[in-house]
Amino acid sequence: MNAHYNQVGILTGISSGIGFHLSILLSGDNIVYGILRNKNKFLNNLEKYQYKLPENLQIIEMDVRDYTKGKSLVDSIYKEHNKIDFLINNAGYGVYAPYEEISDQEFREEYETNFFAPLQWIRFVLPYMRKQNYGRIFNITSILGRLTIPTSSAYASSKFSLVAISEVLRYELSPFSIQVCSIEPGLIKTDFKNNMVVPSHLDDMNLPYYFLNQLIQKRMFTYPFYAMDAKNAAMKINKLFKKKRIPAHYRVGIDAKLYWFLKNILPENLLIFFIENYIKFVFSKYESKKRN
Ligand SMILES: NC(=O)c1ccc[n+]([C@@H]2O[C@H](COP(=O)([O-])OP(=O)(O)OC[C@H]3O[C@@H](n4cnc5c(N)ncnc54)[C@H](OP(=O)(O)O)[C@@H]3O)[C@@H](O)[C@H]2O)c1
Repeated sequence: MNAHYNQVGILTGISSGIGFHLSILLSGDNIVYGILRNKNKFLNNLEKYQYKLPENLQIIEMDVRDYTKGKSLVDSIYKEHNKIDFLINNAGYGVYAPYEEISDQEFREEYETNFFAPLQWIRFVLPYMRKQNYGRIFNITSILGRLTIPTSSAYASSKFSLVAISEVLRYELSPFSIQVCSIEPGLIKTDFKNNMVVPSHLDDMNLPYYFLNQLIQKRMFTYPFYAMDAKNAAMKINKLFKKKRIPAHYRVGIDAKLYWFLKNILPENLLIFFIENYIKFVFSKYESKKRN
């Protein structure tokens, strides 16, 4: 089986960001069923980046949490092509708030999209991939699936879970020649920040977590210099896609690589000590601001 081109598969979340650029790149050589909720957003991006709609990109409008439609789409793809070579679980979003300010529903919805939906799509493709004794599953997780920051309780834990299950599946599916990879990007310039769910009163000084909300507010509209362009990130993933053997974990971006390196060389408690003390410092800064 050739891993480089003429593959048939599914990529979720193609209206913007990494998924958008990846859908264009992959469908140059492969037949891609791209899942999106908002076709206009995708078309606007096509215009913005001056791309032509690739012939091999089949756009499917649906929510990744619509499992009935998802299952029948997978069945019909197999029926038409007699194979399903790859699944890329990319659709996802971030809930960023102090844990106490996240409602149960917001927390559960984050898990539904970032964790349970990818699992369902994996369930749909696995019988076919086992039957053909070939398949590749890429889960776009995050470097926040390997380490946490304050306000990331819902997002990071959903991605930690997806990283964990990617590894388990890699072991379980290896006898069937199915490879599973967790792609762990750092900060990428996409629509992610616009789509983030954050507390509604970020600058309400009376909230107990005012100091954390201010941190979110500061970072919501700006990117540090090291943040990677979405197209660049998609190019890295496309390069990975072309490899015959894919690794269990693949980090995208200098920050993701650096965080992972530091996490591995620094004593665990030292890193936690730094973050904890930084947060205490931020807290006292805003407490004194409140008083003045
Ligand atoms: N940007 C980063 O810094 C970063 C870092 C690490 C990991 N990631 C991960 O990378 C992946 C792609 O995100 P991105 O950065 O490219 O952000 P993005 O531009 O916001 O793209 C996310 C895509 O997922 C889609 N999506 C979300 N929920 C969906 C649902 N229920 N059904 C169908 N589509 C849905 C969005 O569609 P709509 O337009 O309809 O919402 C959008 O097309 C995500 O899993 C994210 O967690 C991003």
